[in-house]
Amino acid sequence: MTKTQFPKGFLWGASTSAFQIEGGFDEGGKGPATTDIGTGNPDIADNKIASDHYHHWKEDVDLMAEMGMKIYRMGFSWSRIMPDATGRPNKEGLKFYDQLIDYLLEKGIEPFVTLYHFECPQALVDAYGGWLDRRMIEDYVHYAEICFEHFKGRVKRWVTVNEQLIATAAGMLTGDKELDPRKRLKNMYQMSYHVSLAEHKAISRLREIDPEAKIGPVCAIQVVYPKTCKPEHVLAAEKAQELMEFYLLDLSVRGEYPPYVKSYLKKNKMFPKTKPDDEVELKKSKPDFIGVNYYFSICVEEKKGAVNYQQPPFWISDDFDICENDYLKKTEWMDKGIDPVGLHIGMQKIYHRYRLPMIVTENGMAYSDKVEKDGTIHDEYRIDYLKKHIEQLKIMIDEGIPVLGYCPWSFIDVVSSHQGFQKRYGLVYVDRTETDPKQCARIKKDSFYWYKEVIRNNGLTKESIRGKQNG
Ligand code: BG6
Repeated sequence: MTKTQFPKGFLWGASTSAFQIEGGFDEGGKGPATTDIGTGNPDIADNKIASDHYHHWKEDVDLMAEMGMKIYRMGFSWSRIMPDATGRPNKEGLKFYDQLIDYLLEKGIEPFVTLYHFECPQALVDAYGGWLDRRMIEDYVHYAEICFEHFKGRVKRWVTVNEQLIATAAGMLTGDKELDPRKRLKNMYQMSYHVSLAEHKAISRLREIDPEAKIGPVCAIQVVYPKTCKPEHVLAAEKAQELMEFYLLDLSVRGEYPPYVKSYLKKNKMFPKTKPDDEVELKKSKPDFIGVNYYFSICVEEKKGAVNYQQPPFWISDDFDICENDYLKKTEWMDKGIDPVGLHIGMQKIYHRYRLPMIVTENGMAYSDKVEKDGTIHDEYRIDYLKKHIEQLKIMIDEGIPVLGYCPWSFIDVVSSHQGFQKRYGLVYVDRTETDPKQCARIKKDSFYWYKEVIRNNGLTKESIRGKQNG
């Protein structure tokens, strides 16, 4: 291994999720999901066609193979596999994933599957309100069991839930229609508690069904800086990080709430309803790894004034306020700033707290890419972003932090969780507009060729650092 090379067997990959690329929303017996409704704005693309991966999957896998990917972090759509509230699996849905996974394996790419990435089956929301109800726990576990049994031996790494923080915060994802911001917040903590229980039960079932397989959560890592070294700002940042990140990871890994979060939720009358046996279930299992999604860091200051309920639920607190970080360069779509060192800080903290191996499951640069007249896409800003984050990973690994792999977001352009195709993250361009899906043709961006070289060299070389390679 040279100075810049990553350890042998490092898992270079890329990421997508089912609802953001598949499309085919009413094909192959798929049932509706909350995410099928989209933002409701007709000028913003929804996921009904998305990147049309449902019809382009083979071509997409060929592109992955051409890039040399070792692992593909993908998602299953729960309502493609279980379209209604009966819990009966849909053969056509399983068949779609069978052909995709078999072809990935044929090309030597490991499928790394997320069971739940924001898309909640609408049938379960209609039947009993989705995650707000404890019945959802058993339904999720049943879905997980079907997947574990069906794909046993083929899928060897699973993700339980993608970004529990976001998955339970947005009403458009959970189907929660509550308008009162305080009640919505209380609902979020209740739903999240059910997700944690479901996650642990699913992990326990995987240990029985396929003891060889590995499983873990994917967290939206929150790297929180204090505005200054004023102790009150530092304390506010510590609390913010507990409330936005570590409480979920503590539940996933240790099966318990951190003391501050427990007291915070009780003080604010938001502590979820629990049952006496839950504790046993929460403590019974432990994940094998932690998946890390990182885009940017945030900055907080001590709380002053009234609580602002008009912001993302997980930022609502009477202990801190979100503020600007003047040290970081901001761009149109990365308005919190670009901060590769934040990845290092965040992953280091996670490792110090849990001592589990990690894999970067998302990391990427949003931009309104432009196709040149000759059909090329020069996304040197994305190359620069990825390169700087990969550099930090290498430093971490050299310092003894176990990082298993790197899966940038996203392999192909995806429909954003709420902003359509205005901004793009892909290494491969999907030729469509917000309102016209055209043929969804695939075009390799400069970053595709650049990343291919990174994978080929098992790390950054002088050339890849300069970002010079392309087709
Ligand atoms: C992560 C999600 O939160 O961020 C992805 O796991 C999402 O699904 C990504 O697409 C980028 O966010 P956005 O809002 O720009 O799509």
